[in-house]
Amino acid sequence: MFRARHLLGIEPLAPAEITTLLDLAETYVELNRRTVKRSDALAGMTQINLFFENSTRTQSSFELAGKRLGADVMNMDVAHSSVKKGETLIDTALTLNAMHPDLLVVRHPQSGAVDLLAQKVNCAVLNAGDGRHEHPTQALLDALTIRRAKGRLHRLTVAICGDIAHSRVARSNMLLLGKMEARLRLVGPATLMPSGARELGVEVYEDMREGLKGADVVMMLRLQKERMDGGFIPSEREYYHRWGLDAEKLALAAPDAIVMHPGPMNRGVEIDGTIADDINHSVIRDQVEMGVAVRMAAMDLLARNLRAERGRAASGVMA
Ligand code: CP
Repeated sequence: MFRARHLLGIEPLAPAEITTLLDLAETYVELNRRTVKRSDALAGMTQINLFFENSTRTQSSFELAGKRLGADVMNMDVAHSSVKKGETLIDTALTLNAMHPDLLVVRHPQSGAVDLLAQKVNCAVLNAGDGRHEHPTQALLDALTIRRAKGRLHRLTVAICGDIAHSRVARSNMLLLGKMEARLRLVGPATLMPSGARELGVEVYEDMREGLKGADVVMMLRLQKERMDGGFIPSEREYYHRWGLDAEKLALAAPDAIVMHPGPMNRGVEIDGTIADDINHSVIRDQVEMGVAVRMAAMDLLARNLRAERGRAASGVMA
């Protein structure tokens, strides 16, 4: 069961749709571990990746995902495109839409930009991160990583730590983990908490040691300096002392707690390098692996819905 036309955020997804996508992603985890990593789920389809912000993990995994599913994949080089001559996002999208892509993967610094673009094109659109709004495939890959490590999502205590106010990763994870009945804690300085955090039905902790007590999952976030327009922390040194994850603070979490980070990491700012590399707790590399599988599953499901919609249109049946 997966009804979505686009993947613009976690907000509109039902828990059953999330489970359907994660279950399909499991099959792609297996495929990706084979020597021959080929499927024809997107054979004959065209995927365009349109990134207006830098990316290592998301762009490369969407490209690999599309290629492994048999799509023709084009990475738009925004830095050398006519965007630099003043062409708008919508005109860029309409131009690409005229080339009949089937899947458009978009990252943009403005919240809501991907949603707006999806209203102008007739292909399936996947949000690869828009401003502070949502990063749905990140939350889905995080959920798959947690489910594989812990066997479930419900009734787990998940501490999301750091710069929550500026983080689309935190927002999508809060939405997804809330839908899947995990117990959520937000941990960080008051200056980096979203307004109204306490009204979101989550526990809020300024004291990281209190927030980590007994947590099953510790999810660290980068300071999103590119989205800050003022002084939010006294200094990086002070921030690391109070909110950086080190061995002493991690010892307060459950003994089998997993440590997550969406990347890119700033070692020595929000996380100690040895914790990030500690195979007894860190699942950061697993998150990267799950990213390819989740993006394959997301594009596969959207492509099935797109084919069905086109089939209905071709036979004159109203959706
Ligand atoms: N987690 C994430 O979105 O990483 P990139 O910015 O490298 O894509």
